Amino acid sequence: MATFVELSTKAKMPILGLGTWKSPPNKVKEAVKVAIDAGYRHIDCAYVYQNENEVGEAIQEKIQEKVVKREDLFIVSKLWCTFFERKLVKEACRKTLKDLKLDYLDVYLIHWPQGFQAGKDLFPKDDKGNNLISKETFLDAWEVMEELVDEGLVKALGVSNFNHFQIEKILNKPGLKYKPVTNQVECHPYLTQEKLTQYCHSKGITVTAYSPLGSPDRPWAKPEDPSLLEDPKIKEIAARHKKSPAQVLIRFHIQRNVVVIPKSVTPERILENFQVFDFKLSDEEMATLLSFNRNWRIGVLADQANLPDYPFNADY
Ligand SMILES: NC(=O)c1ccc[n+]([C@@H]2O[C@H](COP(=O)([O-])OP(=O)(O)OC[C@H]3O[C@@H](n4cnc5c(N)ncnc54)[C@H](OP(=O)(O)O)[C@@H]3O)[C@@H](O)[C@H]2O)c1
Repeated sequence: MATFVELSTKAKMPILGLGTWKSPPNKVKEAVKVAIDAGYRHIDCAYVYQNENEVGEAIQEKIQEKVVKREDLFIVSKLWCTFFERKLVKEACRKTLKDLKLDYLDVYLIHWPQGFQAGKDLFPKDDKGNNLISKETFLDAWEVMEELVDEGLVKALGVSNFNHFQIEKILNKPGLKYKPVTNQVECHPYLTQEKLTQYCHSKGITVTAYSPLGSPDRPWAKPEDPSLLEDPKIKEIAARHKKSPAQVLIRFHIQRNVVVIPKSVTPERILENFQVFDFKLSDEEMATLLSFNRNWRIGVLADQANLPDYPFNADY
């Protein structure tokens, strides 16, 4: 089984990467170092995770130790929603590059399609608690991001949390120069994203699955929420292969040719999550995992559902 997916640019994106959302700055450096030592080459970052400086320190140390070269790594970061203005897109990218201590990103994503009012506040709201949006849209941001590719700061562009109508808008944009190479979306057996994946693949756009383990450390988790890692049927499949539920949940994407980015700051789990290339789920097991779909979404952002570019009001 390939450990890469080929992007429309012909670049090879490692099918398994390390997530870094919620990874505390004082733990993420060690996590990234452990991951690179274990063989991870793809790290998923974002400005909004507020830990890119520490991720960058880890990458830098591993390059200096000659464990990896920059070109062996595949580093993804994301433009936050308050930076859709022309001048700010470039500033945000430069800040991310500075923090990550890199000359270029392998992929730069628009983190969410909805644009927020520029300013220090990452989730700007008025006195009544209403979200403040920007007049610039993701299409405006995309045009500037294309310049980042031309300037060599970014190898390829992508989107995240986009529905297929929003991807169509980019693909149909007059004068489009670069197509998105990936759409990073929540994906796991409770939200299998079959229609969106089929759509993206038909357009030559790779899908990257986030929260593959169900994001048990999400700040808004409730005890009554469903748990993928505790699901008896997933545990049963794992036991059959002498693997852990996490390994099954990761392998599930690899066999769909979907890139997957589990997050951990625990060294044993970082290693465990990489041991997924030595077993294969049967067609029946894959079908069973897909049958668990219940369109259960972890990252809903319900208070943004009335915003013009909120992505999850569409079927897919
Ligand atoms: N584009 C977006 O909008 C977006 C949204 C969400 C996520 N993401 C990306 O996707 C990455 C992954 O998603 P996520 O962080 O939401 O959740 P996740 O990867 O589904 O789950 C992470 C949680 O699972 C635990 N864990 C990891 N490996 C485990 C194992 N082998 N056994 C048991 N527990 C394990 C981690 O604990 P420890 O860390 O304590 O080990 C952490 O609590 C993010 O970090 C981020 O990079 C992107």
